Amino acid sequence: MKKEQVVNCQLSVWYPIFKKHTIKSLILPLPQNVIDYLLDDGTLVVSGRCEHTHTHTHTHDETTSTVTAPEFPEFTSKVLEAINVLGGRVFPKLNWSAPQDANWIALNSSLECQSLSDIFLLFKSSDFITHDLTQPFHLCSDEDSPNPPINYELVLRKWSELIPGGEFRCFVKENKLIAISQRDYTQYYQHILKQEQHISQAIQAFFSQHVQYKFLDEDFVFDVYRDSQGRVWLIDINPFGEVTDSLLFTWDELTSITNQAPFFSHLWHFNARLFAQGVPAFRYTTSEVTVQPSPCLSYRIPRDFVDLSTGEDAYKLMDFLKLVCVLVHSLH
Ligand SMILES: Nc1ncnc2c1ncn2[C@@H]1O[C@H](COP(=O)(O)OP(=O)(O)OP(=O)(O)O)[C@@H](O)[C@H]1O
Ligand SMILES: [Mg+2]
Repeated sequence: MKKEQVVNCQLSVWYPIFKKHTIKSLILPLPQNVIDYLLDDGTLVVSGRCEHTHTHTHTHDETTSTVTAPEFPEFTSKVLEAINVLGGRVFPKLNWSAPQDANWIALNSSLECQSLSDIFLLFKSSDFITHDLTQPFHLCSDEDSPNPPINYELVLRKWSELIPGGEFRCFVKENKLIAISQRDYTQYYQHILKQEQHISQAIQAFFSQHVQYKFLDEDFVFDVYRDSQGRVWLIDINPFGEVTDSLLFTWDELTSITNQAPFFSHLWHFNARLFAQGVPAFRYTTSEVTVQPSPCLSYRIPRDFVDLSTGEDAYKLMDFLKLVCVLVHSLH
């Protein structure tokens, strides 16, 4: 994976090419002071649902510290306007990543946002967002070449209720669709087993009609959603390399794959004859025996915290976390 491939997978690069086939999105440049705020561990998130500035004074053990949430009036109004245009509920991302590792911190345990403070809370809690900001070219083979300049952007996508069983990740090598994996491989979905051929054919048709030869690279990974009417939508494009989760495949398999050397075991319903004819390998979880722990589990917090956040006083958790931040501050 080269740095150029990472550059090409930014939403702002591929969105204009595939606009008709993906979820409506708006892209806002991130001002430097907002980037600084996102990277600053010490500052708090603006509390509450409105966008007002809050000044909190906490007094404990004779130590008084004042924590002021920063203000970004111009950026805030642009974000609110964009949220409005997108119907009031959005899915936020940076150039490449969504803060999926932080959804536990949101009051609704979801990435659905209605305000800039919802977005900031997720972004400031997410290692995936920090990764985009601090090491976007991690694992690139051309590590000694200078990093291409990146303009950081807040991507707001219209909130869409995607059913996880309808999501698939597709691996493209030399402009050939070589493999498709169920995206939410932790669950067994009976309909995938039943409609295996339909799903694979729908994705192949979508690829050949709308994706193949249209992207800037010949190796890439695209994510799709097949809706209840059977229509296929593009969800995201990711680099063809280790930074992208290979789900039910391994990167060794994906990079060594050739028509002559099928590597798939019977376990994975691989049909070598079909593959030789250009039909991609399709893997999905086949029974409840193979259900695996959720990949984001390691990012989660103790059950007590979750209970706190689902209790009647849902702000208790945020108050608690703020208290911790203030305590840490006063110790410095
Ligand atoms: N517009 C949306 N509305 C609601 N949910 C969404 C939306 N877009 C994506 N999702 C959900 O969030 C998940 C992650 O989205 P996306 O693939 O854009 O994030 P990512 O950071 O690029 O993930 P990855 O690291 O796996 O590439 C998707 O699998 C889907 O379930
Ligand atoms: Mg992605």
